Amino acid sequence: MSRFVNRAGPVAGPTGQRIETAVRALGYRPNGIARSLVLKTTHTIGLLLPDITNPFFPSLVKGVQLLANERGYVVLLCSTLGDEKSDEEYLKLLRAKQVDGILAVGLVLHRQQIERLAAGGIPFVSLDRNIDLPGAPLVQVNHRQSAMLATQHLLALGHRSIVHITGPLRLGVSRERLAGYLAALARAGVKPDRRLRITGDFTEESGYRDIERLLAELVPFTAVFAANDLSAIGVMAALKRHGRRVPEDVSVVGFDDIHLAAYTSPPLTTIQQPTFEMGRRAAQILIDAIERGARSGRASKTVFDGKLIVRGSTQPLRTG
Ligand code: RIB
Repeated sequence: MSRFVNRAGPVAGPTGQRIETAVRALGYRPNGIARSLVLKTTHTIGLLLPDITNPFFPSLVKGVQLLANERGYVVLLCSTLGDEKSDEEYLKLLRAKQVDGILAVGLVLHRQQIERLAAGGIPFVSLDRNIDLPGAPLVQVNHRQSAMLATQHLLALGHRSIVHITGPLRLGVSRERLAGYLAALARAGVKPDRRLRITGDFTEESGYRDIERLLAELVPFTAVFAANDLSAIGVMAALKRHGRRVPEDVSVVGFDDIHLAAYTSPPLTTIQQPTFEMGRRAAQILIDAIERGARSGRASKTVFDGKLIVRGSTQPLRTG
């Protein structure tokens, strides 16, 4: 019976048929909890995301889910809101659910808290944003190189007064993109203007508000590199609201290449992150670790290249 129900192997002819008839007649369903206790695995992985409302994440989740399903695992998706309390609550929940491993996008908890909450050395893999767990492998795009690509695109079009609206600077991904922007300016011999560097928070509202403030302060600029597409969309809305045409008056570049980026007006030039592949690779690394019986400890770093996608929101600097 167990072999038949757990599909541990075929059950020959009449016996298999009699068992199948009985299973159907009784409406029998295997008890997943009992099965987990026997097999000492739930074939479940946790995926912790900071903000499920950001359109960057669905493709990442899809990559994780498809790979996990191919390997016979299910995914418990938790949206942590990016704060310590919800990080802690979800780690406790995943431990209670006995997940076999955890994929995390940027926990705000510190190493000791993570280790305490994930007692027993459950394997972790960081995806996109790193976490404070030295042994955890990391899968992400090359944030610095990609930000250099975005800035160099604007420089090549002749722009020199280039605004950068950062992501939240508490995040490593935002600091690395800022470093890429500054490195590209330095390489081109452009002295950075502190007035053109604004701390944003990856939202449309921050992009809109920051550009409005620059315009109000009459700070001259001809291009904007925003640290993600949502803030770039806010930038374009503010420019339009104040009579500045994109790209004729101001060129705009984003970061992520969310689905919407191809449908803004004008379509947004941006950096494409290979999110689906990143999700698949992170899930593969985690499940390999689970099935190897490994515990977080061998920190590997898998870095993908960002790709510049040129659309209608950038053009050469108009002289005169
Ligand atoms: O748009 C959300 C941003 O946060 C993306 O750039 C992604 O890298 C995530 O970390």
